Amino acid sequence: MGATDIRSDPDRKAPPEGSQVAAKLLAHYDRHARRLPWRAMPGEPPMDAYKVWLSEIMLQQTTVAAVIPYFERFTTRWPTVQALANVDDADLMAAWAGLGYYARARNLLACARVVANGRAGQFPEDEATLRTLPGIGAYTAAAISAIAFGRRAVVLDGNVERVVARLAAIGTPLPGAKKEIAAVADSLTPDERAGDFAQAMMDLGATICTPRSPDCPSCPIAEGCEARALGNPADYPVKAPKKVRPTRHGAAWWVEAQGQVWIVRRPDRGLLGGMNALPTSDWEQLPATRAVPLAGAWRIANQPVVHVFTHFRLDLVVARLDLSGMPDAATMRSAFGDGGWWPVERLAQAGLPTLFSKAADAARALAPQGKCAA
Ligand code: ADE
Repeated sequence: MGATDIRSDPDRKAPPEGSQVAAKLLAHYDRHARRLPWRAMPGEPPMDAYKVWLSEIMLQQTTVAAVIPYFERFTTRWPTVQALANVDDADLMAAWAGLGYYARARNLLACARVVANGRAGQFPEDEATLRTLPGIGAYTAAAISAIAFGRRAVVLDGNVERVVARLAAIGTPLPGAKKEIAAVADSLTPDERAGDFAQAMMDLGATICTPRSPDCPSCPIAEGCEARALGNPADYPVKAPKKVRPTRHGAAWWVEAQGQVWIVRRPDRGLLGGMNALPTSDWEQLPATRAVPLAGAWRIANQPVVHVFTHFRLDLVVARLDLSGMPDAATMRSAFGDGGWWPVERLAQAGLPTLFSKAADAARALAPQGKCAA
């Protein structure tokens, strides 16, 4: 039976009162809160708003495990919002490399500069003002307001949506169910300890009320969870059928001369904007035979690099050219775009985003060979 049909069951139990859910969840959180570097544990004074903001931006679309080392590096290198505001754009983009969704890094810097220069380093406390800052949307504003400032705010990320959709067995598919979920979440959110409550919901979603196999016997709010009572918690939240992701096709060029490779900086606007990269062709809807940008004995990696972006999948053919002499920069610029030579041995410091470190690995697997004159 589908999740939507079950909603009409006349015998189903009413969901528990919001305050009971909050009290039970907070009591569980007091004993089991995950220790995370950006988190003040229950009873401790709130964490500095700069750290809360930084962690929340990093955690958008990225897992806790992946974020921890980045958060630690960032806060060691830039302990205050003023320090972060003073960093060079390129250094910031390189430090962010590997975290993905690079528009977040550009907004991070823009936001740090507004807070450091326009607000004397103080983050605003209320959601409405927080939302006027670059890169801060409804979720992040609510999270900062609740976690850093203890204000009551309804904090709804994917984990929390799942918990709420199950608690109330919401049969409307996402994304249409968002308003319904928000209303239930609002009714559950306590006036006190809203930050702990938000983080307790996140922890519950990450560790117990997981997408595929929820561990209901360990759940502090299982009693009164409608989806559990119906016997099918993993069916919630109901999702609209996925659109098929289209594939795009392109080529990446590895040109090496005297132990150096030509690296470009991608335009500020657009995908991977402002990041260091290998030069590429345009990314097109159909595979195409492409003219190489510079004549020579190109070799092609056996497998294209496959990378999945939010809206499309990219199949990137990797081609490599080894030159014995070094062409002048003007020749390289006109063939491959603005950039410079980068020592292959120090490529790790170029801050290539994941797509291009995969392409670089594929090119380097084709060992240098048969160099031709520039
Ligand atoms: N995901 C997003 N924000 C989080 C937080 N503050 N704690 C744990 N997981 C999170």
